[in-house]
Amino acid sequence: TNVEWDAVTAEKGGFDHFMLKEIYEQPKAYRDTMRGRIDESGSKVIFPELNLTEEKIRSINNIHIVACGTAYHAGLVGGTAIERLVRIPVAFDVASEYRYRSPLITPETLVIVVSQSGETADTLAALREAHANGAHVLAITNVVGSSIARDADDVIATLAGPEIAVASTKAYTSQLIAFYLFGLYLAEVRGTQTAEEISHIIAAMQSLPEQVEAMLENTDAIKAYAEHISNHNNLFFIGRGVDYAVALEGSLKLKEISYIHSEAYAAGELKHGTLALIEDGIPVIALATQEALLEKTVSNIKEVKARGAEVMALSHEEHVSSLLKSVDQAFAIPKTLPLLTPALSVVPLQLLAYYASLARGNDVDKPRNLAKSVTVE
Ligand code: G6P
Repeated sequence: TNVEWDAVTAEKGGFDHFMLKEIYEQPKAYRDTMRGRIDESGSKVIFPELNLTEEKIRSINNIHIVACGTAYHAGLVGGTAIERLVRIPVAFDVASEYRYRSPLITPETLVIVVSQSGETADTLAALREAHANGAHVLAITNVVGSSIARDADDVIATLAGPEIAVASTKAYTSQLIAFYLFGLYLAEVRGTQTAEEISHIIAAMQSLPEQVEAMLENTDAIKAYAEHISNHNNLFFIGRGVDYAVALEGSLKLKEISYIHSEAYAAGELKHGTLALIEDGIPVIALATQEALLEKTVSNIKEVKARGAEVMALSHEEHVSSLLKSVDQAFAIPKTLPLLTPALSVVPLQLLAYYASLARGNDVDKPRNLAKSVTVE
C-alpha cells in the first residue's frame, strides 16, 4: 500500500536505497563504535564491558577468527592488525569450514567470532565448537540481543545501527574499528606497543570519520567508473597485505549486487595461474595503499598492463601521479596509517558496487538469491 511505501521512503532518509544511506552513515558508525572506548586523554583504549581479565589476556597464546562473508573479510583485516600489534599468532577460518577441520583449540585460545546479525548458523556452531574445547569466545556483533551475543563469553558491540541492505557496508567498517580498538587494548595489557605508538594510532583512528566524510563529498568520478565497468562481465581486484583483504571485500560487494563476475587475487599470486585470464581490455582494480609494498604491487600492475588489462589504481594522493605512468586511471584515498587504510579504501569499492548495480538496473538492496541473515547451515 501507499502507506507502507511512504514509510520505507522515509526510513531511507532521502537516499534512493538503504545501501547508499548506510554507506553515508559510516562516519557516524565509526564515531559511535569508538565512543566510550577511548579514554579522555586519547592515549588509551578502555573496554569496561569485557569480562576478559588482564591475567586471561596474558595467557592467550593463539587467536582464531571465525566468520562468514563480509564479516570474515573484516576478520582478515582485524586479525592482521592484532598479529602486528600484539605478536600473537592468528588463524582465520570461514565458519562453515572451521569445525570440520578439527581445529586445535585449547583454553589458551581466544576465539573471535564476527557477525553483523549475530544469528548466522555456521558462526554460532563455530562458537559452540570453541566452547566445547574450553576456549574463551569473544563476539564482535551489531546485534546485542542476538544468539551469538548471548552465547559468547564477551561481546564487543559494533554501534553501526540497523543495517537493512543485504550487502554489508557500515557493519563491515564498524567491525574494523572494533578490531583496531581490541588490538590496541591487547597491546596495552601485554605491553607490546609503547604508549606513544598507541596514542599515535588512536589519533589516526579519530581522524577516520572526517576522512570518510571527505571521500563521500564528491563521488562523481567513482560513479562514472562504475558505469564504465557495468558493461563488463569479468574483472579482477589485486592487492598485497591488507590491500588483498580489502580486494576480497570489494570483489564480494561487486558480485553480490552487480552480478559482475570478479575475483580478488593476492597480487603476487597472479603469475601462478590467473595471469592466463588477462586479455585485452579486461578491467583490473589494483589496491596500492601499502607504501612498503608499493614497488612490488606496481610490478604486478605492469604484468597485467603488458597483457592488455585496463587498470584502475587506488592509492594515496602522493602516489597517484607516479602510478598514472603505469595505470589508466587512479583514485586517491586520504592519508592514514598503513594498518588503518582498509577503513578508507573500502569506501570507494562500496560505491563502485552500488553504482555498477544501479547502472545494470538491479535491485540494489535485495540482490537475487541472497539473504541478509543466513540461519541455516
Ligand atoms: C549473509 C549476508 C552477508 C554477511 C554474511 C554473514 O551472507 O548476505 O552480507 O556478510 O551473511 O552475516 P553476519 O550477520 O554473520 O555478519
